[in-house]
Amino acid sequence: MKKKIIYSGIQPTGNLHIGNYLGAVKNWVTLQNSGEYECYFCIVDYHSLAGNISAKDRHDQIIRTAAELIAAGIDPEKSVFYVQSHVPEHTELAWVFNTVTPIAELERMTQFKDKSEHQAKNINAGLFTYPILQAADILLYHGTHVPVGIDQVQHVELTRDVSRWFNKRYDKYFPETKALLTEIPKVMSLLEPMKKMSKSLGEGHVIELADEPEVVSKKLKKAVTATEGGDKAPGVENLLTLLEQFGSKEASSKFKEAEKDGSIRYGDLKSALANEISNYFADFRTKRNELLEDHDKIAEILMEGAKKASEVAGSTMNDVRKMVGIR
Ligand code: AMP
Ligand code: TRP
Repeated sequence: MKKKIIYSGIQPTGNLHIGNYLGAVKNWVTLQNSGEYECYFCIVDYHSLAGNISAKDRHDQIIRTAAELIAAGIDPEKSVFYVQSHVPEHTELAWVFNTVTPIAELERMTQFKDKSEHQAKNINAGLFTYPILQAADILLYHGTHVPVGIDQVQHVELTRDVSRWFNKRYDKYFPETKALLTEIPKVMSLLEPMKKMSKSLGEGHVIELADEPEVVSKKLKKAVTATEGGDKAPGVENLLTLLEQFGSKEASSKFKEAEKDGSIRYGDLKSALANEISNYFADFRTKRNELLEDHDKIAEILMEGAKKASEVAGSTMNDVRKMVGIR
């Protein structure tokens, strides 16, 4: 049987949050450490150009994202870990894919609609063709399995379609891709628990892996626990799910029971959770801060990763150029 190829990417938003972690990054580390797969993890800086961040922020955030991913367990010896723009074949293949993708299929993308609303003054063409670049990321390395949060499933399905459209028009060359979800494919915002946790909602909505214990505690104190319509409070559900992930079994079942029989005290739940999260990421924080002392070392790791990625990407692009008749 052919080896599964794991591919995933993340925008250089700087500080990972527990949504990124539980929806994707934790799973990346597990897949990597199983030793069963060839793994590629990419910081997608070209994708981030479609957003609103400044050049200076982007540059800093690439380094910080790299440090955080390594601190969270991505091992550059075990995975190919690199920055998208260091491998120019990504944009080259994206162009080829632009020409096999019907516009109507891109118009269906919910992330495009959401982001257009969010940045109404900057609805650029890159925002629209964003999933095509994502398909190029994955397919350059013949990625078959894509570990992501639930919000990315539509893009992974589009990647599978791009592969089919290309194969139909030219040669049977690219594989079919599938999304790999975790048990918690969608962590909710602390302040608006009907929405997914996302940095774009604002600082108070997310818990970052690097947050110091007092910050975690302060944010959780403000977390919304009120019911919204239905009988179950989505904020409480979210906190209980988080406790299940980060806390001991006993603590988690104790609060679940208390929720059922109505004796739960949200203040206690929040402080228990704050402790568990802070402890869970204590080593992460130390490692991250150490890594950030040495930007040159991070840059070196990323250059090494790009070298490995380039070998595969170069060979795929050679094949593609021949298949489409430009060489
Ligand atoms: P992004 O920061 O948007 O590039 O997301 C990186 C990865 O984290 C993607 O696989 C997302 O699906 C995942 N992700 C982002 N936010 C959440 C969330 N609130 N819950 C679960 N997964 C998430
Ligand atoms: N679009 C993804 C996100 O917003 C990031 C991404 C870019 C990605 N290229 C990828 C994810 C390839 C998986 C595979 O989270």
